[in-house]
Amino acid sequence: MSDKRIATTDAGAAAPSLEHSQSVGPNGPLLFQDQYLVQKMARFNRERVPERVVHAKGGGAYGVLEITEDVSQFTKAGLFQKGARTDSFVRFSTVAGELGSADSARDPRGFAMKFYTEDGNYDLVGNNTPVFFIRDPQKFSDFIHSQKRRADNHLRDHNMQWDFWTLSPESAHQVTFLMSDRGTPASWRNMHGFGSHTFLWYNASGEKFWVKYHFKTDQGIKNFTDAEAAQIQATDPDSHIRDLHEAIRRGDHPSWTVNVQIMAFEDAADYRYNPFDLTKVWPHEDYPEITIGRWTLNRNPENYFAEIEQASFEPSNFVPGIGPSPDKMLQGRLFSYPDTHRYRIGPNYLQLPVNQPRNKVDTYNYDGPMTYRNPTDPVYAPNSMGGPVAAPPDTWSGESYEVAGEIIRHAYELHRDDDDFSQPRALWEKVLSPSDRDHLVSNIVGHASTPEVTADMKKRVVEYWRNVHKDLGDRVAKGLGA
Ligand code: NDP
Ligand code: HEM
Repeated sequence: MSDKRIATTDAGAAAPSLEHSQSVGPNGPLLFQDQYLVQKMARFNRERVPERVVHAKGGGAYGVLEITEDVSQFTKAGLFQKGARTDSFVRFSTVAGELGSADSARDPRGFAMKFYTEDGNYDLVGNNTPVFFIRDPQKFSDFIHSQKRRADNHLRDHNMQWDFWTLSPESAHQVTFLMSDRGTPASWRNMHGFGSHTFLWYNASGEKFWVKYHFKTDQGIKNFTDAEAAQIQATDPDSHIRDLHEAIRRGDHPSWTVNVQIMAFEDAADYRYNPFDLTKVWPHEDYPEITIGRWTLNRNPENYFAEIEQASFEPSNFVPGIGPSPDKMLQGRLFSYPDTHRYRIGPNYLQLPVNQPRNKVDTYNYDGPMTYRNPTDPVYAPNSMGGPVAAPPDTWSGESYEVAGEIIRHAYELHRDDDDFSQPRALWEKVLSPSDRDHLVSNIVGHASTPEVTADMKKRVVEYWRNVHKDLGDRVAKGLGA
């Protein structure tokens, strides 16, 4: 008997031929009864799930988070206790481009981390920048529409991008990052990751703190210039997927030093910046970074579709010791991600191996398309039959805090130093080197010089940058001839 593997239909019957469809004679029409052919074509038509509406192009890897310092005074979360090692998964991505778009495009990079903790999944769905373009989730879909494609000609359009940004001055800080060379990182290994939002931490006694996460690359920051990025786009659109995959394959495991900034719970009310405003950082002179551990990537996925395309991250996945802050953007995201996964992958997306928690799931939610975790009785709660009950009250104690006020639609209350331009101005004045500044100017000028950008828009672009810093605005004006 031959030891060759025999191909089968999906139902397990031997495949009659991998090359020839069943026909009436060698030249005759094909038969509907050839279910192997029908199955093959029908399955092919259903190979794709919809691509992510944002962050469609990406890649990732598995790794481990190791905590080296004692931060139990700030959080009781098991994964952040000294000595803890937690399996992890990350997906890096660009934001605006489609599934086949180039990795080296000018864009923020997604930095989505999943930690498979003993207490369930903890997801930290951040970017390679500490801030964002907007501060209210009402504006998210409009912002993304301005970055994607026009309705009429299906082209991306820098005029509409600058239109949105110049009408949304809160974007200035993030657009400064985006237009600097950090908008074109040389690889995913050579960029930092930020949780970006402020989150709540609470310790075993229920004391609360606010926290920001900074994952600082141990490989060093390395960026492409605009010209280098364009050249790589043309020659190797998958450069970042390739770089990460090859590094891990040759045993060159990239790592990041894990830092946090901690703010006392009570300090938030009158800190000089609104600490929940996602367009702001907490300056280091106020809140220095504290190193708590290291995060290392050491294993490539084996199947892109199963592990990257079907990966689902949720800013709403918290574990005891960690919770959301009142950051309005974060609050919006708590809804958006599980909702998009139910649509994009299906309601049982958390049963897929890459998304599945490593601890036991015991839930009254069940059934639906493609489930393979079937319930046992009792199927309702409360019950008197020994079904699962709620976690003891002390598990989540500390997550609660008081809020009160009138129900309104209003911008954040301004704190003492809040404005849209002083933090990007600090970046220009005290952080960027002379060559960083030269590149920022030329990147802005290049971006705002494409044919669709109108003369009137160029004036608005100059004004926007003059608000960040007069020298920057003047140099952009000179470059644009505006
Ligand atoms: P600091 O001088 O203490 O910190 C400056 C920060 O900027 C460092 O984190 C540095 O870390 C980072 N940085 C250095 N070069 C660049 C660059 N070319 N592009 C972007 N970031 C860079 O000052 P402050 O904390 O007072 O912050 C001043 C400004 O720095 C902020 O307004 C913000 O724009 C920017 N920044 C601040 C961060 C924060 O959390 N406080 C974080 C990142 C940026 P590294 O070189 O390792 O990236
Ligand atoms: C992906 C919504 C802000 C980081 C997504 C997706 C949606 C979305 C719908 C697609 C998810 C999927 O199909 O798997 C929103 C909304 C936001 C917002 C409504 C604001 C209100 C942000 C911010 C960050 C961020 C501020 C970073 C700080 C990411 C990342 C991904 C993503 C990294 C890709 C996740 C992955 O790799 O699967 N976002 N987003 N988003 N978003 Fe956001």
